[in-house]
Amino acid sequence: MGEPVARIMVVDDNEMNIRVLEALLSGRGYTVSTAHDGEEALEKIQEEIPDLMLLDAMMPRVDGFAVLKKLKENPKTRLIPVVMLTALSDLDSNVKAVELGADDFLTKPFNKALLLARVRSLLHVKFLLDELESVDEIIAMTARIVEAKDEYTEGHVERVTAFALGLGQAAGLNEWSMRNLRRGALLHDLGKIAVPDDVLNKPGKLDKEEWDHILRHPEVGASILKGLKSLASVVDIVLHHHEKLDGSGYPDGLKGDEITIESRIMAIADIYDALTTKRSYKEGMSKETALRILQEEGQEGKLDERLVNIFSQLVERGEFESLGDRIPNLFNIPPPPPR
Ligand SMILES: [Fe+2]
Repeated sequence: MGEPVARIMVVDDNEMNIRVLEALLSGRGYTVSTAHDGEEALEKIQEEIPDLMLLDAMMPRVDGFAVLKKLKENPKTRLIPVVMLTALSDLDSNVKAVELGADDFLTKPFNKALLLARVRSLLHVKFLLDELESVDEIIAMTARIVEAKDEYTEGHVERVTAFALGLGQAAGLNEWSMRNLRRGALLHDLGKIAVPDDVLNKPGKLDKEEWDHILRHPEVGASILKGLKSLASVVDIVLHHHEKLDGSGYPDGLKGDEITIESRIMAIADIYDALTTKRSYKEGMSKETALRILQEEGQEGKLDERLVNIFSQLVERGEFESLGDRIPNLFNIPPPPPR
């Protein structure tokens, strides 16, 4: 399967340059759009986001550097690869372009073969990045499938994901950790896919064998994901979201620092939702009672006390109050860019 037809935007104030580039690129099967200055380029991008931009550095009014800066500030456009075209073999402009986030630069007059080679390789990277976004779509879909299996936990995955991300952000996790946390939260109960339906949905007490099925879900989930390279750091969250700091959790009985901050966050989010949700065999607890239980577990050294305190403040501030309205969008949070 070949790559999709790429859309390239050429921005240059010189009509002759535009024509040359347009002919060159459309001759290779690319779809080309053009703009004659920075302002026009930014307007056109509102309508359609190109897969790649060739951007002249020196233009009247809004120059290439200003356009580049704007593109990199906007989450919607910051992943567009940009090749700066500089008329000067002036080192300063080239350095400035790269510092502002240009992926490459070419000095005019440029070599056609070189230009085409750069375009090809940047587009290749761009399409790989687009693929990564679909990994997140697959994760969200998988999460929905798991949830559909368990009739008592409707909305659990979305709520836990929202709690975990809220807590992660307040605890100051970086973008990379937040991405893993989001994926881990969506997939934390993936292993329940292997728990028989009648065990998962049993209204009464579970016997020993049935409990064993449930207790194995972190390991099953982790083993399903283990082969997927891009999810390596997510596997740990799935495997250890039921661990407790004093070693009383499962499956590995990890203690203290052996449990990552992402897994500690997940444990708090997961327990809080389980306590506050109504099931067929129990009422949901009030926020206050649930927070008290979390705080007790914090004092007993089972949950991370600092994180429990941050989480309590978020709940008390009403941070998750309007969660009901936000749930439909939760699966569509755009992921932060990959490293
Ligand atoms: Fe779980």
